[in-house]
Amino acid sequence: MIILDGKKTSNDIKDEIAKEVDVLLLNGGKKPHLAAILVGDNGASETYVSAKVKACNRVGFNSTLIRLPENVSEEQLIEEISVINQNDDIDGLIVQLPLPNHIDEKKIVNTIEVNKDVDGFHPMNIGNMTLNLPSFIPATPAGIIELLDRYSIDTVGKSCVVIGRSHIVGLPISILMSRNNYPGNSTVTLVHSRSKNIKDICRNADILIVALGKANFVTSDMVKEGVCVIDVGITRIPSDTTKSGWRLVGDVDFQQVSKKSSYITPVPGGVGPMTIAMLLKNTLLASKSKI
Ligand code: GUN
Repeated sequence: MIILDGKKTSNDIKDEIAKEVDVLLLNGGKKPHLAAILVGDNGASETYVSAKVKACNRVGFNSTLIRLPENVSEEQLIEEISVINQNDDIDGLIVQLPLPNHIDEKKIVNTIEVNKDVDGFHPMNIGNMTLNLPSFIPATPAGIIELLDRYSIDTVGKSCVVIGRSHIVGLPISILMSRNNYPGNSTVTLVHSRSKNIKDICRNADILIVALGKANFVTSDMVKEGVCVIDVGITRIPSDTTKSGWRLVGDVDFQQVSKKSSYITPVPGGVGPMTIAMLLKNTLLASKSKI
């Protein structure tokens, strides 16, 4: 069993990006600049956004964090986005999700300028990605693809089962894994809350990508010997053994499932750090206007 080390791989990618930034600056270019909008005080979002800002500093990007109160109106948020859309100094913009219930997420995502949509959530980017045209690829699925690539995992003709159909992970990774590309060219089955026989479907998977947000959902009786497991879940569960009183676990029961796996991502230290590295990569791409 080989651990897919997202921490190390993401550090390699960040080093590569930092070198590219040095070259950009030497050639008279400017620092890539990422703006993030954080609405309200959701603890998890707070953690994710500060990790993104920290990562920008690490690779030599500029970053701007815009905090808006929980009760900000949809119109005010759209106005903030419009200002950033028109700011030539800012290359990439993310609006951290989820948003408060009174704000229409789809409308907000649609407002972000397509060429600054480094989350790759805009319908234009999703459409171009689906058609294998140049686009921003959402960061978490892009991180999964990058891990499969850097560990040279064979995906061609493999049975790939994706659990979860979120717009952020499940849906886009199912598209990417079925595209005529490497990594890709898999035979993809997307299962979700209305699917039947999930266990049987999972047992057929050569590659199992789990993104449903339920701690330890996948148990060893659900996988076949030699499976490659990508665990996107991150749930805090109470713990007596940590100072904080909680620890992070994935959607996969790592203890059991790793024994049957050829490759597996740990939680933490698997897909999570890759997401941030790929967001930086998208921002670099945006700054070079290459899409
Ligand atoms: N919430 C959870 N994941 C993400 C992400 O990748 N981007 C944004 N903007 N919000 C998220």
